[in-house]
Amino acid sequence: MELGTGKTAVVTGGGSGIGAALCKAFAAESLSVVVSDIDLSAAEGISNSINDTGGNAIAVRTDVSDRSSIKELADAAFEAFGSVDVLCNNAGVVTFRSASEMSDSDWDWVMSVNLQGVINGLTQFLPRILEQGNAAHIVNTSSSAGLFAPPGMASYVASKQAVVGLSEHLSVDLAAVNVGVSVLCPGGVATKIVEAGRNRPDTHGGPEDVPDSAEPIRQGIAAGMPPSEVADRVIDAVRNNHLYVVTHNDTRPGVEARLEAIRACYALND
Ligand SMILES: NC(=O)c1ccc[n+]([C@@H]2O[C@H](COP(=O)([O-])OP(=O)(O)OC[C@H]3O[C@@H](n4cnc5c(N)ncnc54)[C@H](O)[C@@H]3O)[C@@H](O)[C@H]2O)c1
Repeated sequence: MELGTGKTAVVTGGGSGIGAALCKAFAAESLSVVVSDIDLSAAEGISNSINDTGGNAIAVRTDVSDRSSIKELADAAFEAFGSVDVLCNNAGVVTFRSASEMSDSDWDWVMSVNLQGVINGLTQFLPRILEQGNAAHIVNTSSSAGLFAPPGMASYVASKQAVVGLSEHLSVDLAAVNVGVSVLCPGGVATKIVEAGRNRPDTHGGPEDVPDSAEPIRQGIAAGMPPSEVADRVIDAVRNNHLYVVTHNDTRPGVEARLEAIRACYALND
């Protein structure tokens, strides 16, 4: 779809990292931006920096795992700007535990943000986007962990693979109504994702520190791709309606190994 003045992007998890970079990138393309985050002051920091540099943004506190909170986000976005043309279901969290180590609340928290949060974005925004009748685009943030299964993050892998499947389904489903779909599958990006437990609500176990076992991951993430580079790839995907946004070549061996294992399984049928 074409980007530009008069259009609006809504970004969940827009207060930090990839979401913040997406907000700035859409603002640079002259879109109005709704910066949404469970951390309102972080969202306000990004909306203020966009407004200070001549853009047009508002900040809204949203918990994507809460359907009524996303409905309020949709109400605020349509009230402020009249339309929503790009929806980025980007907010995400992680716990660094394998399935055998995870508590019920670990599962509930990660699945409710990473998967139910995307579903809530769809149910609360899509009918209103379709009602507009114009070209629109949905970006769902998954991960390279949506394409293969790195160890030690069971709920993250489960949630992100579901987001890939949902996005693939949506891209077929929505093609006829001129709504494009992209699923973002990055490897390491230099953000605060390792400290996701900082925003873990009390209803899901409360804030938690990064475990020592995550130190190698923290170092890898800190040396990761700048979020602005990822955002540039998303802008390109929205413009050209690319389904997969795969940014990191170092994740390719994991994906190839998965495909090879599946191919080998099919070969048993010959
Ligand atoms: N950083 C990476 O290496 C990497 C790699 C692959 C995928 N991702 C994905 O990118 C997305 C963005 O993460 P990031 O790396 O920018 O991390 P980040 O922690 O810097 O940003 C995530 C933002 O989401 C917000 N958030 C958390 N829970 C929320 C909720 N319930 N409702 C609304 N907002 C909430 C946080 O407050 C934070 O501002 C996530 O979906 C993540 O899984 C990140």
